[in-house]
Amino acid sequence: MTFKTNSDSADRSRDKPSEDVQNDDSQHGNGDLVVVANRLPVHRSCPESPWETSPGGLVSALMPILREHHGVWIGWAGSLEAASDPFSHEGLFNVPVPISPDEVENYYEGFSNSSLWPLYHDACQPPHYHRHWWNPYVKVNRRFAERTAECAAPNARVLVQDYHLQLVPGMLRELRPDLRIGFFLHIPFPPVELFAQLPWRQQILEGLLGADVVGFQTRAGAQNFIRLVNRYTSHRGVGQAIMVGQRHVQAREFPISIDFDRFEQLAQDPAIIDRAEEIRAEVGEHRTILLGVDRLDYTKGIDLRLRAVDELLKSDRHTVNDLALVQVSVPSRESVDEYVEVRSRIEELVGQINGAHGEVGQMPVHYLRRNLPIEELVANYLAADVMLVTPFRDGMNLVAKEYIACRLHDTGVLVLSEFTGAARELDRAVLVNPHDIDGMASAIERAITMTKTEQARRIRSMRQKIRRRTVFDWANDFLGAVDAASSFSMTAGGGTRDTS
Ligand code: G6P
Repeated sequence: MTFKTNSDSADRSRDKPSEDVQNDDSQHGNGDLVVVANRLPVHRSCPESPWETSPGGLVSALMPILREHHGVWIGWAGSLEAASDPFSHEGLFNVPVPISPDEVENYYEGFSNSSLWPLYHDACQPPHYHRHWWNPYVKVNRRFAERTAECAAPNARVLVQDYHLQLVPGMLRELRPDLRIGFFLHIPFPPVELFAQLPWRQQILEGLLGADVVGFQTRAGAQNFIRLVNRYTSHRGVGQAIMVGQRHVQAREFPISIDFDRFEQLAQDPAIIDRAEEIRAEVGEHRTILLGVDRLDYTKGIDLRLRAVDELLKSDRHTVNDLALVQVSVPSRESVDEYVEVRSRIEELVGQINGAHGEVGQMPVHYLRRNLPIEELVANYLAADVMLVTPFRDGMNLVAKEYIACRLHDTGVLVLSEFTGAARELDRAVLVNPHDIDGMASAIERAITMTKTEQARRIRSMRQKIRRRTVFDWANDFLGAVDAASSFSMTAGGGTRDTS
């Protein structure tokens, strides 16, 4: 790996590079393309175990592009890991950023997940703001920016991911003006009235404006950002463009998606089809299976969804003999109080509903609190008659897209919250207001009684949309926009890049 830039600070990083990164060029990425995310794309159960690639759309979308460009992924290796050396795994170069236990508490659990996460999700839990969380957020963001400045080749493209790292683009631009920087926010970006609460609103906006392209899941997110820039900074945004000194910053939507072919293939795997039949037989062939799959998070609306199912079971239209809900809840952020509370609330409700409507050997709610392997997940998608995706707010929601991709026979119904990014594209779902328990109960009833012809019409139209724009298109579009936006800035006179 070589370091050659026209920036002083980058020259400093060249003089004193990370030894690990420089030791072995054949193994290391050349840093022409760098992804920076809170987490590395790999995990392991303990420091003695081998690394495994983490599941998920972002990782599978970016891996092929990174491999092609001998890229580098910079991120945290997870709370079990102390600082570890850069390493290659499955053809990708990983650069771990150490985060101390105190920083995990203040930067990750605190500012990222107890200030920003609830604020950006419509404040559906009250966000907490503490100065002793903000300072570690700045410090950890600086560490990520410095590590990136060391690893990125001259004029490299850097893709910064998500709300944990909103200051990185600004810090990185100061350290390395030659870089082309994209930032993508995976979660919603809130309206002016909510974002205005944040005591550090201006710093966050200025941090994001260090990027050439600031990407959002929806057009509404991008518009919120431009309005906020106009209100709280000295820069001016018109349409999708914001002038920051001589640079043009582009703010627009790039709705993320899934690896459609992978889900379609899994849905044709005979072993998975057999497993789906087994699930149906275990739950009861004659029963309608409703399915929920979520991280155990208060934004997902699992509690009100359960109450809507309870309403159906209280009505004279359904009993435990004809209806079952399988709710898969993946443990998440278990050291944050609100996550502990939502878990007890949900588990209490499951107990109440099963106690009130269950029979010996037949329960209405099958509650699984664990992460399912992808094969088991797909078997559940195949077994389910109705998929319930009812978050109070969600950046996109890929579970909704995965369910549709797996419905090869055009059967099944998606009940989808209108407050998800996915609802923009999946407008043939049965759309619901997740705060309206009676409305959700009626929507589920409508889904249960929908004719096969109507199901097919809707699923077919949604499958086509998802097939047409996969996560690989997302990655190409975003990368393409970073290239186009930065060359536009250069021709506009803002370029400080070493183009030699
Ligand atoms: C959301 C965020 C991701 C995050 C994931 C899991 O999807 O947008 O950035 O990685 O949740 O949360 P965790 O806190 O475990 O990383």
